[in-house]
This record gives sequence, structure tokens and C-alpha cells, in this order.
Amino acid sequence: MAYNIALIPGDGIGKEVVPEAVRVMDFLSKQYGFELAYTEFPYSCEYYLKTGAMVPEDGIDQLGNFDAIFLGAVGDLRVPDHVSLWGLLLPIRRQMQQYANIRPIRLLPGITSPLADRTAEDINFIVVRENNEGEYSEIGGRLYSGTDAEMVVQETVFTRKGVDRILRYAFELAQSRPRKHLTSATKSNGIIHTMPYWDERFNALSKEYPDVVTAQFHIDILTAHFVQHPDWFDVVVGSNLFGDILSDLGPAIAGSIGIAASANLNPSKEFPSMFEPVHGSAPDIAGRGIANPIGTLWSAQMMLDFLGEQKAAQSLMTAIETVTGMKRLTADLGGDATTKQFTDTVIEQLATGEVYRN
Ligand code: NAD
Ligand code: IPM
Ligand code: MN
Repeated sequence: MAYNIALIPGDGIGKEVVPEAVRVMDFLSKQYGFELAYTEFPYSCEYYLKTGAMVPEDGIDQLGNFDAIFLGAVGDLRVPDHVSLWGLLLPIRRQMQQYANIRPIRLLPGITSPLADRTAEDINFIVVRENNEGEYSEIGGRLYSGTDAEMVVQETVFTRKGVDRILRYAFELAQSRPRKHLTSATKSNGIIHTMPYWDERFNALSKEYPDVVTAQFHIDILTAHFVQHPDWFDVVVGSNLFGDILSDLGPAIAGSIGIAASANLNPSKEFPSMFEPVHGSAPDIAGRGIANPIGTLWSAQMMLDFLGEQKAAQSLMTAIETVTGMKRLTADLGGDATTKQFTDTVIEQLATGEVYRN
């Protein structure tokens, strides 16, 4: 099989970790006999500073022609974040109807959790984040700008279609996992309209999935439970903002934001899905070659799996875990490996040919 991949390294460490993932994917494509044809796009804050836009007018439409999109990170201190992110990343997620943002969290071998005495059995869950609506909405505006009467309104949008489809995705994912357990993140005690609606749909749909055991927590105590009882969680579904917050906290308890991977899925495959690490452009470490590539390599693994290259995907995950197990770790995890050294060691493991065991 041959796949056309749109590559958008973006900004900061995005430009360091994406080429590493490409090296690994190229190695796997030879090993497992499939083809990857990349088209690289320069869309980034640099591009914005040169052209005045994050993408050309038809830039996002063009991405629709690919089998998948692989992105690094977006963000630069010289461009306001709402300009860069609403100019590139967020419009891709929306226009391509990538409504399910899947963010797995696992304590990998060789990595020490900041939580005392926790093992891999305790930290193994997936955050399913609504990715198209909710708190991330362009509806709103300012009145009386620059005066004492200045006011600003930001609307949250929950649609029946949008809520039901993400909840169904989460129920079905929970059904496919051994524990069949689904937690819903809510805040229906404080947010009077949208969150009771979310709970109402969660309870209604749960009747269609009687084999899934459910739990619901308000987001405030849920963050505390992530720290104190990570073993309670299997699949956790949340609105756009809650899912965003939980999917930085999750990898933090598993060692570092640097390991966090994500898939922005258009499950119907009407449009391409996008794969990207959860982390941002990390301006504080960019240019030093020390970024942890695991989040990006794991995102590549999710992309290969989604494209149908399960053996290559499985092999890559095993190789990543073998290398972390060897304690060949980057600085964020307490090691001294560079980005490139970590990737080289992953490729060495893949080269042994013994990584994937059927
Ligand atoms: P960040 O994820 O870029 O960085 C947070 C902290 O984690 C920093 O100390 C950074 O050095 C560290 N870190 C992140 N990834 C790492 C890795 N792979 N290896 C080692 N350390 C890593 O988040 P931020 O500081 O809130 O945002 C910086 C910029 O990135 C902003 O412009 C923000 O809007 C943007 N951002 C973009 C995305 C995205 O493109 N998906 C996601 C989050 C933030
Ligand atoms: C993420 C990021 C983005 C989000 C930002 C950069 C807009 O934090 O992918 O988690 O909030 O979705
Ligand atoms: Mn985030």
C-alpha cells in the first residue's frame, strides 16, 4: 500500500521531532513493505511572519487530499497564540471534522512516575476529548472596547450531534477494552446549561451500552483523582476544554508531557485524520536537540495503526518501550539522551527484526 501524508512540522521543537518520526516511519515502511509519500508544508509562525497568514487561502482545503496529516507543534513568542492556533491547528481539526481526539496515557517501562509507588498497571487509560465544539468557539465578541464599560462574551456550544458522537465513540472504545469502564468529566454543579445537557446525553446513551461500567466526576475532583487514584481510569471522556486539561495532567503522572501522543480522528474517514504530539512548540528548549520524541513517535504509531499497518505500528510501540526500558531517556525524564540518540536507539531496536513477535 502507498499512503500520501501531509507533513506540517510547524514551530519550535515541532521541527526537531517530526523529522525523527519520519526517519522511523521510513525505516518501518521498508521493513514492512508499504510506501509513504510525504508532502511537507511550511505552515508555521515563520510562514505567518513572512506572508501575513498561517496558511494560504486554500491551504486547509488542500490538506483534504491526503490520507493523513502529521503535525509537530504550532506557537512562537512573536505571534499571539490565538492567532497562530486559530490560523492553523484548530481550523484543520474543524474543517476535517476530526471530532474525536484520542490521547492515550500509559506509564512506560523504565519511566518513573512522579506519583509514589505507581506501576504500569496503575496508569493505563485513554482520554477521549471532544475536538470540534464546546468551549472552543468563535462565537462572542467585545463591546465598548477600551472604555470603562468594556465587556467580552465567549459562548460555549454543545450540539446534540457533537455531544452524542463523541460519547458514542467513547462508549465503543470502552467496550473494546478489557475493563469496559468509562468515566465522564462534567461540571454540572457550576455550569448550568451545557454540563447538565452533557450528563443527560451520557446517561441516555449509557442505556445502549449496558456492558460498559460508568462513572461521572466533576472536573475539579477528577483532577485530584487522576493524581491520587490513576488506577480507577480506563477511558475518560470530556468536552473540548476538560479533555485538553486532562490530557496534559495524564502524561504528567506518566512522567512527562513529552511522551503524550494524539490522534485527531475523523472516524467516518470522509476527511483525513491528523496525528500530532500533545505538547506545544516548547520555546524554552527549542533548538537544543533535547526534546523528547516519544510523543511524536507514538503519534506516528497511531497513524500507522489507523492507516492499516498494524504490524509496523505494533513493532514501533514495542521498540519505544524497549528503549525506555533500557532507560535511554531524554532530559525531561531524567536522562541525558538527545532527541536523535533516542530515535537512533529505537531504529536499532527495529533493525534487530525481533521487535514484532506475532
Ligand atoms: P509546551 O508543551 O510547548 O511546553 C510546556 C513545557 O513542557 C515546557 O517546559 C517544555 O519545554 C516542556 N516540553 C514540551 N514538550 C516537550 C518534549 N517533547 N520534550 C521535553 N520537554 C517538553 O506548552 P506551552 O509552553 O504552554 O506552549 C508553548 C507554545 O506552544 C505556545 O505557543 C502554545 O500555544 C503552543 N502549543 C501548541 C500546541 C500544538 O501545536 N498542538 C500544543 C500546546 C501548546
Ligand atoms: C492541544 C493544545 C491546543 C488545544 C492549543 C494549542 C490550541 O493545547 O492540542 O492540546 O487546546 O487544543
Ligand atoms: Mn493542550
